Amino acid sequence: MKVIVFGATGMVGQGVLRECLLNSDVTQVLSVARSSTGQKYDKLRELLHKDFTDFSALERELTGYDACFFCLGVSSAGMNETDYARVTYDFTLAAAKALAKVNPRMTFIYVSGAGTDSSEKGRSMWARVKGRTENALLALPFKATFMFRLGFIQPMHGIVSKTKLYRVVYTISAPLFPVLNAAFPKAVTTSERVGRAMLAVAKRGFGKTLLENAHINALAAGSA
Ligand SMILES: NC(=O)c1ccc[n+]([C@@H]2O[C@H](COP(=O)([O-])OP(=O)(O)OC[C@H]3O[C@@H](n4cnc5c(N)ncnc54)[C@H](OP(=O)(O)O)[C@@H]3O)[C@@H](O)[C@H]2O)c1
Repeated sequence: MKVIVFGATGMVGQGVLRECLLNSDVTQVLSVARSSTGQKYDKLRELLHKDFTDFSALERELTGYDACFFCLGVSSAGMNETDYARVTYDFTLAAAKALAKVNPRMTFIYVSGAGTDSSEKGRSMWARVKGRTENALLALPFKATFMFRLGFIQPMHGIVSKTKLYRVVYTISAPLFPVLNAAFPKAVTTSERVGRAMLAVAKRGFGKTLLENAHINALAAGSA
């Protein structure tokens, strides 16, 4: 399987990249980002790109892939709707449209959030924008499209979030994670499980389009 990872330098993306690099079913990984992951593996290629609203010059490099794991995204904290939508909607749709054009057999997996508003009309700004993004992605002609509506994700294997708020929360929760995991097994997940679940869905598909932490945990454990 040949895969593309967007946002491989972030917390979710680093976890996904790690699982791709470790999985022998994955023969090639392309990271598309504005900065390098700093990783060196034979099967990893990095494409550094500046303008995430325009991928027209990269068509050739983006052709021939089976799956895209789109982990690029920002927290809406302190952002107005225009700026948040530029990264969340504009960047995602620009990349997805370019990929759908040259990879009709591709499975596209988008990192969304728990509580996303599919109606696009609710009071929460981030949930409306994520909902609009999900709905637009679902209309594109991919082989399959999945929304990973992540909730609490404990980063594993030394991974840290680039977002200060998440960094603080997950540093505090790290020692408590075994307790949280035992008490709320469906509500919490890890960066490792997210990566494993993405690979499982890309390989075998899944009966639902919108996945939450409970589905992700079941997929990562091989029980879904
Ligand atoms: N972490 C959580 O607990 C959590 C929970 C639910 C949902 N999510 C969702 O997961 C997604 C990723 O979150 P994360 O925690 O992995 O965030 P993160 O650690 O802050 O990483 C963000 C990633 O997006 C890239 N990015 C951000 N702004 C960009 C821009 N303007 N241009 C190009 N690339 C940009 C970053 O690239 P650089 O390295 O170049 O900055 C990085 O790869 C987000 O959509 C978030 O809503 C996260």
